[in-house]
Amino acid sequence: MFRRLTVFIVLFCTLGCSNRSIRETGLITRQAMVVSAHPLASAVGTKVLKRGGNAVDAAVAVQFALAVVYPDAGNIGGGGFLVFRQKDGHIDALDYREKAPAAAHRNMYLDERGEVIEELSLKGHLAAGVPGTVDGMVVAHKKYGSLPWAELVQPAVLLAANGFPLTKKEAKKLNEERKDFLKYNTRRPEFILKDHWKEGDTIRMKELAFALTQIRDRGRSGFYEGAVADSIVAEMKRGGGLISHQDLASYQSVWRKPITAHVGEYRIISMPPPSSGGIALVQLLTISSGYPLGEWGYKTVKTTHLMIEAERRVYADRAVHLGDPDFHKVPVEGLLDTSYIKGRMTNFTPGKATDSDDVSAGTPAPPESPNTTHYSIVDVQGNAVSVTTTLNSSFGSKVFVAGAGFLLNNEMDDFSVKPGAPNSYRLVGGEANAIAPGKRMLSSMTPTILEKNGKLYMVVGSMGGSTIITTVYQIILNVIAHGMPMQGAVNAGRFHHQWRPDWVLSEWGALGFGTGLRLWLMGHKIAPYVNGTIGRASGILVLPDGRLEGGADPRGDDASAGF
Ligand code: GLY
Repeated sequence: MFRRLTVFIVLFCTLGCSNRSIRETGLITRQAMVVSAHPLASAVGTKVLKRGGNAVDAAVAVQFALAVVYPDAGNIGGGGFLVFRQKDGHIDALDYREKAPAAAHRNMYLDERGEVIEELSLKGHLAAGVPGTVDGMVVAHKKYGSLPWAELVQPAVLLAANGFPLTKKEAKKLNEERKDFLKYNTRRPEFILKDHWKEGDTIRMKELAFALTQIRDRGRSGFYEGAVADSIVAEMKRGGGLISHQDLASYQSVWRKPITAHVGEYRIISMPPPSSGGIALVQLLTISSGYPLGEWGYKTVKTTHLMIEAERRVYADRAVHLGDPDFHKVPVEGLLDTSYIKGRMTNFTPGKATDSDDVSAGTPAPPESPNTTHYSIVDVQGNAVSVTTTLNSSFGSKVFVAGAGFLLNNEMDDFSVKPGAPNSYRLVGGEANAIAPGKRMLSSMTPTILEKNGKLYMVVGSMGGSTIITTVYQIILNVIAHGMPMQGAVNAGRFHHQWRPDWVLSEWGALGFGTGLRLWLMGHKIAPYVNGTIGRASGILVLPDGRLEGGADPRGDDASAGF
């Protein structure tokens, strides 16, 4: 029986061939582009760019528009990371990740026997961290924006107040979440006024329009003080959550130095801790650059085996060394050191899977979501913004703030709720990511910009919790090692290994029959990815003649737009 089940699983992952072409070219524009998870959000961003706004202006408008049209992950009740590259090469990174409330403590999700209480860090009021999105947008706009703030929030106000038609996927998801919305909310949210949503239904969000109006008219204080803040705190009191007025008033985003590294002719610019994404991505690409993957070929046994083994080792480092740098000394330089990274592969055996028990985190030199969504923007001047933003799981904690109509995140689950025990992504975390008041939880979000020979080359990122890093890694390799267009690289099937559990998770057909079977015979434990698809990415590639090619993920309703 067990054997038959195993054979079925292997066949599921390896047989079948995705109908998404890896040679497909995406939308090509001459001057500017926005790629996001929703066509209406991409259209809002494009309009801002057409009016002369820059990439940061467009990012602000897209962030608020996604909070309306893509409530699974677009948000004002969550957080995110923004990586920026100015046309002159200046780079910056903004951390607007959520923080643990002041009343949070290390064992808040454990019972008296020290065991994790199921779902407590995932659903309901106690799962929410202090939201960072509104502050992040205000701070980004203050430093780099050029159009008036109110003009950038207004499109989202209109979308919420006037309504918009639901896509088939969105209608389905709202119906699926109905039970949780009813269970975890203290007041009946606007989203479930209707029993059953279908494609084309218009959804209006009056309470969310009110909250957005406050933000439009009062900026930061429209969210962290006044009526919206009062609604958040009242919601917490009704549902047993922790976020207080003081937590909201003291929330601040942080400008951080981006992670940068040269890999061949490319320079990777990505997010530093509290994201693990930038460091892990550099490690993966550095390891890969030591092997002729282009020559070995796409989806071959050699290439895929090497990539899996690199992922296994990099995620072992992630589990132990990464956490909020304001609370834990992350050995960034050591982890990025080329000889350290290459040394991690000394026990790599071509032709044989390593057991994850034989791999542990390395000792770098001291000191040195699921649901989330990503959007990529390039403006007319050539400024680029790469933003990944999240509520963590789809629709976050499932809790709407009554009176303000937005969803709160369940980002507290990204902490190691019990160091050593896996979280909802089955990621194991260590002490570096234990809960502490005011601390930011470790993330996998990997908003990334690539330069080639000193010039802007690619803007890319993805949703997908722990699979974000491997998604971004594989898309970049698809372009730079296998010569795919941006759209084809996003279309291509994906697989994922994160050290523990010791599985290669695969999309339908992602490994190919011959490769999958041989990897299995080599000892790789192959399993289908429960959610069916891995990641949902948005990329923009600068073509040799300066035009832009969009890669919008067919796994969702994603859309490229531009001119
Ligand atoms: N909530 C997913 C992440 O930040 O990695």
